[in-house]
Amino acid sequence: MPPALVQIEHHPYQPRTELVRFCHERGIHVIAHSPLSVPGLLAEPVLADITDETGLTPAGVVLAWNVTRGVVPIPSSTTTSRVVGNLAAAGRRLDAETCDRIDMLRRPDFER
Ligand SMILES: NC(=O)c1ccc[n+]([C@@H]2O[C@H](COP(=O)([O-])OP(=O)(O)OC[C@H]3O[C@@H](n4cnc5c(N)ncnc54)[C@H](OP(=O)(O)O)[C@@H]3O)[C@@H](O)[C@H]2O)c1
Repeated sequence: MPPALVQIEHHPYQPRTELVRFCHERGIHVIAHSPLSVPGLLAEPVLADITDETGLTPAGVVLAWNVTRGVVPIPSSTTTSRVVGNLAAAGRRLDAETCDRIDMLRRPDFER
């Protein structure tokens, strides 16, 4: 019996595209745990560029990138305004060109 969902590490450094595709082709939901606490990620210059274009924060860009890929991010925050902003960002979608720029961050050798 296939699982209803899998929860994995998934972020622009490790997009795990093959695994995400494998799951989606079988109707298995993919959840990205700890999507924001990736060392260095939120300081990436390309994310700053995209914040200027979209009005999102760097964290918001990462969350919107997850949702655009059909992956459900589950960030945590102790800051009310961030919780609200993170939820709003998950309602945004990025265009293909923007996703391509974020995909350039992929680092096959990345280890948290
Ligand atoms: N299945 C697994 O193996 C596994 C492993 C790890 C975690 N998890 C789960 O994943 C979820 C999230 O994990 P996590 O808390 O470790 O990681 P996270 O959500 O990636 O990171 C939380 C950190 O990000 C900060 N943050 C949140 N929103 C932000 C924003 N908009 N801008 C800048 N910083 C922001 C928070 O700071 P503030 O609090 O100061 O806002 C906090 O320091 C939890 O439910 C956890 O249980 C699962």
